[in-house]
Amino acid sequence: MKVSETGLSKEELKDLASKYMNETFKRFDFIADSGNGMYITAENGDKYLDFMGGIAVNATGHCNKRVVEAIKKQAETMIHASGYCYTLPQIMLAKLICESIGMDKIVYQNSGAEANEAMIKLARKFGTDNYGPERYKIVTAANSFHGRTMATLFATGQPNSAIQNGYAPMIQGLSYAEYNNLESFKAACDENTIAIMVEPIQGEGGVIPATKEFLQGLRDFCDEKGMLLLFDEVQTGWGRTGELMGYMAYDVKPDILSMAKAMGGGMPIGAICTTDKIIKSFGPGAHGTTFGGNPVCCAASYAEITEIIENKLCDNAREVGDYFRNELKMLPSVKEVRGMGMLIGVEFDKDIATEVKYLAADKGLLITAVRPSVIRMAPALNATKEDCDKAFEILNQTVNEVLSK
Ligand SMILES: Cc1ncc(COP(=O)(O)O)c(C=O)c1O
Repeated sequence: MKVSETGLSKEELKDLASKYMNETFKRFDFIADSGNGMYITAENGDKYLDFMGGIAVNATGHCNKRVVEAIKKQAETMIHASGYCYTLPQIMLAKLICESIGMDKIVYQNSGAEANEAMIKLARKFGTDNYGPERYKIVTAANSFHGRTMATLFATGQPNSAIQNGYAPMIQGLSYAEYNNLESFKAACDENTIAIMVEPIQGEGGVIPATKEFLQGLRDFCDEKGMLLLFDEVQTGWGRTGELMGYMAYDVKPDILSMAKAMGGGMPIGAICTTDKIIKSFGPGAHGTTFGGNPVCCAASYAEITEIIENKLCDNAREVGDYFRNELKMLPSVKEVRGMGMLIGVEFDKDIATEVKYLAADKGLLITAVRPSVIRMAPALNATKEDCDKAFEILNQTVNEVLSK
């Protein structure tokens, strides 16, 4: 569908949106009419350099040819069959994912939150099956973000935030410890704790990478106490950090990991991966989904992941990400530039992130604000140094303009 085919103006379409759609995002003032590579084209032909990447989704850029072809071909062959039927994309994707990230089994889901929900359920079920029903507690990190379902919004370590307010009571057995503080996690666990769940890099929390010592310390502590280490790789997965999975960048392997976002080339798909031993707790009937493993989404994911691996996009993400982070240090009012690969956060010494986000969009650059003073960028893994130079130029102008107000 294209805006020009409707005969309606942008303002008329925006009126329809506000009449019929519930708005949970404060949107940019254009209609994203088409996408190609690093750019989104608006209804009036204006082009936007996309360093938001559809919120860390479009790992190979917009409308990657291999992904588009895979979707078209699969849509003409089989769109949906349900979990009762084997389908080829599901099987081939499972093999590709498990072999490329060193895991035994995959459970398909439809989104990041749903993948995390499944990860929490599997950890609890594993606790009950192996130790008894009282062993169900999970410790997560303060300032984490794990999703918006009932379990994941309370796994999200942001009490008294819009994410949690109004949804009490909290599901039982979740508590928070300080990120990058091993002692805080140790203190938060007791004999009924079955798992620790963290993001290898806190994305929404301000693009805060874990330290290697912290993740290794959690691994050792979990092994010592018979607990599971869960990594939320929804944002850090599939090349974002410059390795296929964030855990590979740290060389600390979790017992279960979740994934979504970059996995699907823009199609809604998520999953968890784990070991043969742990997956025994998810026998028939213990968990399920109608759409999980949808053939079109799996075909898109297979194409996207193949594109990432064959074109060595992790290498590009590392090299160009480092180049961009160095460049960003030259922005005015910068306190710190953080991240790994193509997951990049800039913390300013003032709370200007939201203003920078919307003004940058007006100037043709799309980014997100994750904290009052932190902007985040998650461009495609195949972004070039020239794309980064262009983004830097717009950001530099934008920040200077915001600061001069
Ligand atoms: C680390 C992390 N986990 C989970 C989620 C939730 O994913 P979804 O929005 O696909 O439900 C997000 C989304 O931003 C995320 O960044």
